[in-house]
Amino acid sequence: MSLALGIRCKICGETYPLSDVYSCPRCSTDECSSRNNTLEVTYDYGKISRKIRPSGIEQRTNSMWRFVELLPVCDTHNIVTLGEGATWLKRCRKLEKHFRVKHIFVKDESTNPTGCHKDREASVLISKAREWRRRTVSAFTCGNLGSSVACYSAKAGLDCVIFIPYLNIHPLPRIAQMIAFGARLYQVVGTEKEIDTLARVLHDKHRWVFTMLGGGSKWEGKPQSPYIHEGKKTIAFEVAMQMGWKYPDHMFSPGSGGNFYDCWRGFKQLKDLGWVKGRLPRMHSVESTEANPTYRAFMQKKDSVILERPGETVTYPISSTVSPLKSLMALRESGGSPLCVTDKEVLQAQKLLAAKEGIFVEPASATSIAGLAKLAGDYVDKDETVVCTLTATGLKFPEPILAHFKLPRLRASIRSIENLHLI
Ligand SMILES: Cc1ncc(COP(=O)(O)O)c(C=O)c1O
Ligand SMILES: [Zn+2]
Repeated sequence: MSLALGIRCKICGETYPLSDVYSCPRCSTDECSSRNNTLEVTYDYGKISRKIRPSGIEQRTNSMWRFVELLPVCDTHNIVTLGEGATWLKRCRKLEKHFRVKHIFVKDESTNPTGCHKDREASVLISKAREWRRRTVSAFTCGNLGSSVACYSAKAGLDCVIFIPYLNIHPLPRIAQMIAFGARLYQVVGTEKEIDTLARVLHDKHRWVFTMLGGGSKWEGKPQSPYIHEGKKTIAFEVAMQMGWKYPDHMFSPGSGGNFYDCWRGFKQLKDLGWVKGRLPRMHSVESTEANPTYRAFMQKKDSVILERPGETVTYPISSTVSPLKSLMALRESGGSPLCVTDKEVLQAQKLLAAKEGIFVEPASATSIAGLAKLAGDYVDKDETVVCTLTATGLKFPEPILAHFKLPRLRASIRSIENLHLI
């Protein structure tokens, strides 16, 4: 049973019940603010640590719901699950050799039901939708979150409407997943204000549940449901458990928003519970050089983050920082480094991981490996332990790797094989 107590604003400390809230009215000054997304679910840590032992957690069902007390779904009958989480922590011996670092692991989220870490978010949000007796779940996205929300809505028997914002990139595999799961898809047209108002009315009057309340892209800091972050912190829980209830020395996360901050929060919750001792990991966020608001704010020693329209990049799913103030906190508290990488570095890292370890991830996911390449042998000592999060399978966005590929022709003769030095 969940031991969630309520929701608390990380900035002003105001508390709210476990209802369908998106932002703290005291702190978020407008619809589009870097002070949005400050709400977090709180738990009764005393009761959890008295009631549960880490060894007991290990015996439980093999999904992220083994951490049910630390998730916000009050009645377990409402849980909508497809076995998300419980992803492999894979040791990468060839990368260890390549980067000259003794222990490199990847947390491979591509084995989630739709191939992405977003399934952890959707499982929690759709379970809450069921708990609130809602009929319709919606998202403004053309990305992985859309596939996950559509998938879990289908499992729960809820209606799902995906509004696709105007974007140059519409990766077809994600759209195909949404269609297959029976979601209704619309390209939404209108001014930003009209679209935001639409979302508000659908939420307030028609009781639709949203992943993010507002129509723009998430780089604009629109208010997100605090529940979607609860699922992602279980990545950190699982990493610690898979390492024998220990922390890695370093963690590299794609982007500087959700999974980055949520993992930091997860690691800290384990310390509060007394389940893991020792130094918390240094958390490194990896942004693109085309969209690096957290990197810039950190380097300029600022306490606020200026959200700007990102440039074009193959890592566009991480062109945002959903919780910029919290990301800066995580970097400073953990002693981590904000990093930014070029598309070229990302595509090299994607190829390296596939060629050396047999793991094909999408470019946004490969940023964690590109980030490690920047710190290996320098800030990351050769005897330390590193975990890189890989958020999604490469099959979700294959276009960049196919862009320059041309299938060569070959005559069916041994001579042509010899000419190509294949034997
Ligand atoms: C492949 C991939 N990686 C990372 C992210 C960033 O996710 P988060 O906001 O959870 O950090 C996304 C977001 O859509 C994504 O699709
Ligand atoms: Zn507040």
